[in-house]
Amino acid sequence: MKEEETRDLAKPKEFKFYATARGFCLTSAFWMVIATFMGLWGATELIAPDLSGRLGWLTFGRIRPVHVNLVLFGFVTPGLLAAAFYYVPRLLRTELYSETLGKVTVVAWNIVLLAILVSLCLGYTQGREYAEPIWVIDVLVVGVLVLIFYNFTATVKRREEPFLYVSIWYVLAAVILTAITYCLGNVIWRPHTGALTGIPDAILLWFYGHNIFGLLLTPLSAGVAYYVIPRACRAPLYSHTLSLLGFWSLIVIFTHIGTHHLLQVPVPTWLKVIAITDSVAMVIPVMAFLINIWYTAKGRLGEIHADIGAKFVFTGTIMFFFVSIQGLMMSLPQVQRVTHFNNYVVGHAHVGVLGFAGMIALGGLYTILPRISGRPLYSRFLADLQYWLILIGVSGFGIILTIAGLIQGNAWLNGETVYRVLP
Ligand code: HEM
Repeated sequence: MKEEETRDLAKPKEFKFYATARGFCLTSAFWMVIATFMGLWGATELIAPDLSGRLGWLTFGRIRPVHVNLVLFGFVTPGLLAAAFYYVPRLLRTELYSETLGKVTVVAWNIVLLAILVSLCLGYTQGREYAEPIWVIDVLVVGVLVLIFYNFTATVKRREEPFLYVSIWYVLAAVILTAITYCLGNVIWRPHTGALTGIPDAILLWFYGHNIFGLLLTPLSAGVAYYVIPRACRAPLYSHTLSLLGFWSLIVIFTHIGTHHLLQVPVPTWLKVIAITDSVAMVIPVMAFLINIWYTAKGRLGEIHADIGAKFVFTGTIMFFFVSIQGLMMSLPQVQRVTHFNNYVVGHAHVGVLGFAGMIALGGLYTILPRISGRPLYSRFLADLQYWLILIGVSGFGIILTIAGLIQGNAWLNGETVYRVLP
């Protein structure tokens, strides 16, 4: 696309209402506070196990899934969706198909989050990682995702802009593919257990669990980055062809690698081979995306630094580079013999979810906030402070947990007892 066309995309006609974007924005901000507080509480319990005394609903076993689910579905996903509800109509030069439907999805999503919080604290869980919520919540999640998908596709149908920019591809794919994998991974056709049995259950669970990152957070984040960076740089995207290569290779490759979570488990060897090979092949979509974004920003880092939203997003792309290299290494059996079951994985998870997807979600929010509220940002200083606190915190997470994990893994392989190498 030519430069003037991209400039046009950046300045479509103003639309008055962004109620859905505003709703998801507030959802993300509210649940971020709850989710991270739960994380802090859980972390404190690791060094002070008696912290919650006899309060069963505050014990680590319950707080941990609450923290994880609320970070994923309460903070990061709504943050990225808020940006999508802003950029989809703008990129398509039309209004959202239905703000009313959008508001219904915001309210329903908040009911889901409240239900997750209450049910998990009360001990109602299916006991499968990332698939803990009980059946009735699963049905609601899928219902909301389908409604969001309908709202977006109906908007695409009435668009005035013939060109479908890559961000649109990413958000549509993320929403519908997650609705499908969510049904599969939560074994939604078995309401009582939400599970298969034995090894097939583990394979299905990790197909789904992995795709929460590969088919939900990553494409939603890529969609936001592709919108925010060219806009902040006032430059055309480096290559639209490369953006589609990145999109399709992500969809084809990222979906096949869930079994790399099960390399220490007796799953069929051919599945492990596919998972390992495709994990290495992830270098294709990752580099296609990063080269595109970084070359778009080349020579324009000043613009990125000046724009707080773009600053968060650009940093998120750097984190994506590190988390992908780290993930790729962990997928190699020789490396995973050391890194599995210890703090190394926890470090990777936080660099991915907070450093990459969380940073980009915040960048998206800071980009759209003045535009959906009609007011300038309340305080650039506070936003910058948040940026530095997260950057320092997540880098600390990454570095310290990686070192701790390597010490733990090597010690265990050398026959050292577990408790002697716990931090
Ligand atoms: C090329 C990209 C990536 C590869 C090859 C990769 C690989 C892996 C592997 C092999 C594991 C399992 C480690 C083990 O259990 O021993 C893992 C765990 C994890 N990854 Fe990644 N990863 C990638 C990117 C990402 C991204 C972008 C995110 C977040 C958005 C992410 C989030 C996570 C999380 C949360 C876990 C922990 C799962 C658990 O609860 O056990 N990863 N990754």
